[in-house]
Amino acid sequence: MKIDHSINRSTSEKLFEESQTYFPGGVNSPVRAFKSVGGTPLFIAKGNGAEIWDEDGNQFIDFCGSWGPLINGHNHPHIFQSVVDTLQNGASFGAPTRKESELAKFILDRIPFIDKLRFLSSGTEAVMSAIRLARGYTNKTKIVKFDGCYHGHVDALLVKAGSGLVTFGTSSSAGVPEAFANETIVLPLNDLDALKTCFEALSNEIACVIIEPIPANNGLLLQDLSFLTSLRTLCTEFGILLIFDEVISGFRVAFGGAAEHYKITPDIVTYGKIMGGGLPVGAYGAKREIMSFVSPDGPVYQAGTLSGNPVAMAAGLAQLSLCAQENFYEELEKKTSTFVEDINTFANTHALPVELVSIGSIFWFSFNGKKRIAAADQIDADMTSFNKLHHFLLNRGVYFGPSGYEVGFISSVHTLEQLAFAAGKIKEGLKAIYQ
Ligand SMILES: Cc1ncc(COP(=O)(O)O)c(C=O)c1O
Repeated sequence: MKIDHSINRSTSEKLFEESQTYFPGGVNSPVRAFKSVGGTPLFIAKGNGAEIWDEDGNQFIDFCGSWGPLINGHNHPHIFQSVVDTLQNGASFGAPTRKESELAKFILDRIPFIDKLRFLSSGTEAVMSAIRLARGYTNKTKIVKFDGCYHGHVDALLVKAGSGLVTFGTSSSAGVPEAFANETIVLPLNDLDALKTCFEALSNEIACVIIEPIPANNGLLLQDLSFLTSLRTLCTEFGILLIFDEVISGFRVAFGGAAEHYKITPDIVTYGKIMGGGLPVGAYGAKREIMSFVSPDGPVYQAGTLSGNPVAMAAGLAQLSLCAQENFYEELEKKTSTFVEDINTFANTHALPVELVSIGSIFWFSFNGKKRIAAADQIDADMTSFNKLHHFLLNRGVYFGPSGYEVGFISSVHTLEQLAFAAGKIKEGLKAIYQ
């Protein structure tokens, strides 16, 4: 593969050298370190609309969008103004503010299957609290997760499958006691038989099943609708709560996330990312009866110094009011499918073994031309092609998250020109890789 030019990264390189003396791996979240694609992470200086600039002044069309939150791009004037206006009155009080109720009302008015929610500061916190609530409500301890779904760095969910079908998990991170992992059962995605076997054997002990209804952390593993609907039915039948982790898909594929898209109602839902307009936010919500178990109404403890922070609430409200505008999701999806189809047609015409898989405004490069629906399908996923493409694009003004397992996001402010430019570079890159 020919790489005919390489951007100047000298400032990023210097900053990375320094940051490695402060942070493990030089970063505050592992994937940012570029370990997967190789090379030096770019230090980002600013973003505007669909573009970002690094500390060396290189400009990129951004498809990472801060890993999903920026559905309206960087520095959107409406969100920016709300944040500035709110900040003028102080950053945090640790007491109730009107902004929390405004954002809650905006969400609850539009998402009929939750009556109440609780704001917190990250997706991880949301998931951790939702699991505790499910356990507190059902008075059962075991939980089921799916291989290939990521739910943040919650102890009980940093767990991989054990050796048998209905065996308990083993921890996938040092520092997670096996005793915690033993409370988590890991099942393959899209496998109804495994689910039934598990429920038949252990339903009396299982508090909840947690799933990313649109699994988007290990590639984009779109599930069969029949699997998701059967999962809903079986959970009800066996008295097990269903948690949809919509930290990525919430407000992304529709205002009401995957639940709205698939018309499937979870018992508890978790949100994050988009809901904070780029500021740190998470939330979990459910029907009144389940939420009545949360402290101080009920026995399940959960709290947070910065929970419902007014500046984050203001950013969230500004962001979601843009998302709630008529045809917002239709237009976003149309723009994305034009981009995706353009690249897929090119790949097809040139017999290149790559396909963009997409839903709503999320897309993912699937190499080797195989349908991927479960984590096991990823074993032969060819990340070397993605890594080459990543570097090719970085040198030509197109920025993707630095891992072939991560999805790309298109925002409402990506213009057709920017998308056509990026598609052109992607095509050039794919051709160069396979020449
Ligand atoms: C589906 C899902 N759940 C939970 C999380 C954790 O969210 P956070 O990184 O805000 O803690 C993530 C993060 O990417 C996620 O994708």
